[in-house]
Amino acid sequence: MHLLIPAAGVGRRMGSDRNKLRLMLLDKPLLAWTLLAAHASERIQWIGLIGQPDDWPTWKEMLQNLQITKPVELVQGGTTRQESVYNGLQALPLNAKQVLIHDGARCLATPELLDRCADALNHHQGLIAAVPVKDTIKVVDQEGRIQSTPDRSNLWAAQTPQGFGVPLLKQCHEQGKQQGWEVTDDAALFEKCDLPVHIVPGEETNLKVTTPEDLAIATQILHQRQTSP
Ligand code: CTP
Ligand code: MG
Repeated sequence: MHLLIPAAGVGRRMGSDRNKLRLMLLDKPLLAWTLLAAHASERIQWIGLIGQPDDWPTWKEMLQNLQITKPVELVQGGTTRQESVYNGLQALPLNAKQVLIHDGARCLATPELLDRCADALNHHQGLIAAVPVKDTIKVVDQEGRIQSTPDRSNLWAAQTPQGFGVPLLKQCHEQGKQQGWEVTDDAALFEKCDLPVHIVPGEETNLKVTTPEDLAIATQILHQRQTSP
């Protein structure tokens, strides 16, 4: 299974002076934890690490330190996540029939989750890891007034990994580019092309490290895993 890791963001909401994936989580850069999970996964055989050239020297050094033995290719990121994944798709080896995409910022995902998603690709052309939402979600207008309250039993929080058949996802990306669709994940492109996307049970701890609070929570969870595995 081929895996693309988008890691080319700036981390604006983290408010740091560098890509948040370079920030330290315990004794390693945040992205190192994501790579270690990919390395420990039984199914992942190839990793495309999508980053900004400024970060490449850091990533190369990190890969050496982690002693990652699976093939890792550095791919140049774009200005949006969508562009970054697009570039990643172009960089896939020709024999890649299916691909998993997993955000560098989701550094707590387990190797088992990656494997579960890889296995589910045997049955589905499009899938995402997701968990049922716990909060009641409100739809709110520009004036800060609630418009509606969707039935919570239908609501799921999307995570990554997301997995797709490569030719179909490439087609969706091309169509999105032509039509100017702007989406925050790849499942949304599939949906816009009227293709089915299935849910794979995600993990409550699989948060996307976005803000300094998330970094504190992630530190706590990793610390706990290290002391009581
Ligand atoms: N990403 C990417 N290329 C971009 C933007 C984002 O590869 N041009 C990656 C990020 O590095 C991250 C993942 O997509 O691993 C999810 O994005 P997000 O959590 O939004 O990260 P940032 O865009 O870096 O953060 P922010 O939106 O706060 O600036
Ligand atoms: Mg972003």
